[in-house]
Amino acid sequence: MEIKKVGVVGCGLMGSGIAQVCAQSGYQTVVSEINDDLLNKGLGMLKSNLARNVEKGKLAASEKDAILGRLKPTTKMADFAGCDLVIEVVVENMELKKKIFADLDKICPPHAILASNTSCLSVIEMAMATKKPDKVLGMHFFNPVPVMKLLELVRTIASSEETVNTVKAFGKSIDKTVIVAQDMPGFVVNRLLTPYLFDAMRMLEAGLATREDIDQGMMLGCNHPMGPLTLADFIGLDTLYFIANIMYEEFKEPRFAPPLLLKKMVAAGRLGRKSGRGFYEYK
Ligand code: 3HC
Repeated sequence: MEIKKVGVVGCGLMGSGIAQVCAQSGYQTVVSEINDDLLNKGLGMLKSNLARNVEKGKLAASEKDAILGRLKPTTKMADFAGCDLVIEVVVENMELKKKIFADLDKICPPHAILASNTSCLSVIEMAMATKKPDKVLGMHFFNPVPVMKLLELVRTIASSEETVNTVKAFGKSIDKTVIVAQDMPGFVVNRLLTPYLFDAMRMLEAGLATREDIDQGMMLGCNHPMGPLTLADFIGLDTLYFIANIMYEEFKEPRFAPPLLLKKMVAAGRLGRKSGRGFYEYK
């Protein structure tokens, strides 16, 4: 099956990045939000990313216009009618996701593949909200989407081989390297990454090192682009707290349990970069 038109449900940080890479790779891309304010905010991020690339000489101004010409921003689900692939990128709420999958199942053509960008929720549960679970899988992108090379493809026990192969080829066409993970909380990357981030928080909580020393240790000692506390702030502490609870509930292993410090910071509204304060302060 050839994918020509892509849909992205949700135009926040991740959704706008996904819409950008799809349109940049030549796909007609429909991107939606629940209201004009959120849509314009997401499109603003996308446009300023493209403008920065033009300023740096990495993108011709005419190409930027062509990319924007391939984008169809909307607040109506009905506009996904002609899409061959739709990627859901809304908040991590299973009931909302199931409703979106059920709606897309009715709106999109029978051949359309439906995907979720969830970082930890069960993809088969979403698939069962449709009449074609063989055409549903996870497409987990990484922040910042235009920069990060990885696409984690999450196959459920019902995803067909054809669906997996079509999405693998699609991933390659948008310049991502695809790895395949099973449908379980955290998939491959978050299952390895989150216990490491939680250990850094526990180390800080126990007073074993300063935040700067923990971060510098991993940046300079292991060549990571960001230290774990900076990365946690970058991902969002509420997001990490949510992932921790899902993973701990599933696996019951202490390494996935949210550190008390993380719980307290989320309760205090210190969510990282997005709120202006996390382990560090942001202007
Ligand atoms: N959007 C688009 N492009 C961005 C960007 C953004 N938000 N932030 C940086 N970039 C681009 C810059 O424009 C620059 O592009 P260029 O090479 O063409 O000039 C390039 O990225 C490098 O940026 P900078 O020089 O400004 O800064 P750094 O070298 O420090 O890189 C970084 C920034 C790419 C964010 C780097 O620090 C990094 O890779 N950090 C780790 C990110 C990471 O681990 N992400 C995964 C999080 S986990 C996740 O998403 C899964 C979820 O389920 C939790």
